[in-house]
Amino acid sequence: MIYTIGGIKGGSGKSTVATTLTVLLANSGRDVLFVDADDQGTATDFTHWRGETLNSTGFTAIKLSNTAVRTEVLKLKSKYDDIVIDTGGRDTASQRAAMTVADVYIVPFIPRSFDMWTLEQVSKLIEDMKLANPDLRCFAILNKTDSKGSDNNDAKEIILENGSFEYLDSPLGYRKAYANAAAQGLAVTEIKPRDPKAIAEVEQMLQQILSIK
Ligand SMILES: Nc1ncnc2c1ncn2[C@@H]1O[C@H](COP(=O)(O)OP(=O)(O)O)[C@@H](O)[C@H]1O
Ligand SMILES: [Mg+2]
Repeated sequence: MIYTIGGIKGGSGKSTVATTLTVLLANSGRDVLFVDADDQGTATDFTHWRGETLNSTGFTAIKLSNTAVRTEVLKLKSKYDDIVIDTGGRDTASQRAAMTVADVYIVPFIPRSFDMWTLEQVSKLIEDMKLANPDLRCFAILNKTDSKGSDNNDAKEIILENGSFEYLDSPLGYRKAYANAAAQGLAVTEIKPRDPKAIAEVEQMLQQILSIK
């Protein structure tokens, strides 16, 4: 499967979802290509830190931009079980190119009203890209959630009402473990001390994503 992690807002958790998905797929024995399609290079930094922490990263990583995201991924896709593409925080040519080749598009949202304004813009982007890739499946995932209050349910309802997204039912809480793990090039499943809640929610995310047909 080809997964593009995107959206048009920085800091929503695209790279966190992309790196976590890449590591969990690789650790389950799949041959994964991780594509950094963000000029800021967060995915490339992550892979570099991972190499320093573990010696071997467990997946292949490349950096691509603009139309090369499409042409290179098309060339490489038969060589891998999965390709995960991390994109930048704006509506870029690279993100659009990634959406033309993806099977699945995953957009993290932080469930606070300000962030939800971007929902409308992302759904316009999806509408555009479905002209080129009508089979693209689009999912929203909540990130940096607060276990208290009704924010999550409110956000879920607004997302589903919008009509462009399916809902990935595995919200990721706001937890230090995510930032601590990323700084070492690791997923939350790989760090000590263990954060059982973070581990449970990323495993749930993986199961939800693997169940996409
Ligand atoms: N669920 C979370 N809990 C705590 N910190 C998070 C969480 N998700 C992301 N972060 C942190 O927030 C920052 C932005 O996340 P990142 O995944 O890089 O976003 P994006 O790629 O969308 O810009 C990073 O420092 C990251 O470690
Ligand atoms: Mg990023």
